[in-house]
Amino acid sequence: IPQGTDLRAEIERLRKERNAVILGHYYQSPEIQDLSDFVGDSLELSRKAAETDADVIAFCGVRFMAETAKILSPDKIVVLPDMDAGCSLEDSCPPAQFKAFREAHPDHIALSYINCSAEVKALSDIIVTSSSAEKILSQIPKDQKIIFGPDKHLGGYLKRKLGRDMLLWPGVCIVHEAFSETELLKLKVQHPDAPIAAHPECPPYIVDHADYVGSTSGILDFAKTMPGDTLIVATEPHIIHQMEKAVPEKTFIGAPGADGNCNCNICPYMALNTMEKLYLALRDLQPRIEMDETLRLGAKKSLDRMLEMAS
Ligand code: 13P
Ligand code: SF4
Repeated sequence: IPQGTDLRAEIERLRKERNAVILGHYYQSPEIQDLSDFVGDSLELSRKAAETDADVIAFCGVRFMAETAKILSPDKIVVLPDMDAGCSLEDSCPPAQFKAFREAHPDHIALSYINCSAEVKALSDIIVTSSSAEKILSQIPKDQKIIFGPDKHLGGYLKRKLGRDMLLWPGVCIVHEAFSETELLKLKVQHPDAPIAAHPECPPYIVDHADYVGSTSGILDFAKTMPGDTLIVATEPHIIHQMEKAVPEKTFIGAPGADGNCNCNICPYMALNTMEKLYLALRDLQPRIEMDETLRLGAKKSLDRMLEMAS
């Protein structure tokens, strides 16, 4: 990239030239969020990807999200600024082991969190996101046995909240696992009136202290509507950018990790996407998500069920 390139202006130019839509997750850097056409949680981003009439989707999120966009919009070119932007939940669930787990429990259906590979989606019956899981689970007959993967914390939260027995795959999000209960309680002593909002990917010892538990969009709505002027946010701290834009008069404090600050809770995968890489992705239409058609159709079945059941 030539020195002095105005990346923002170039991205704007290429977005028009390519008829591209930029979809961004709340865990992206503020500058990427600000130039995205749409910023949302996993379910909203999936819906946008399925509905768009753009020719190119530049997905500023992680690979499973860009793959989901390709599965739902196969005729579009889908680019991901950094193909190494993975997810620890996806990594914790290798398809061959998940297949064996399913085969060991033939009387169970498999509900999978969207944070998994296309292969695991193809091995699953229904996909859920953190914002749709409760609604989807409530439509499944009580006597139906369920495998839930790959996030054991989201699965455990749903089990406790809805009183459903499910077999859990032992995967975790390394970002939400990094919050410290001791440091959170110390922060709460300093701000006794501040509610805590937590993502259900957090371990139970964090979620149990939360006044609100929900997806990134749910947490953002809570920030806008809650009484009081200070909120403790137990999810990836880049979402605070949207909160500060929406309600600048309120104060948002990222929940701490063991070192007492919230920088250890930055998602290292999301952070791989940069303005430079987004510019190059729009310029070169690479790195591009490509997928075998049989795999795509297999994964689409469980994603379509999510979109039907969540609507
Ligand atoms: P949501 O935006 O759907 O809450 O997901 C959070 C997350 O960790 C995405 O990887
Ligand atoms: Fe995966 Fe966690 Fe990063 Fe989300 S925050 S992409 S679940 S590692």
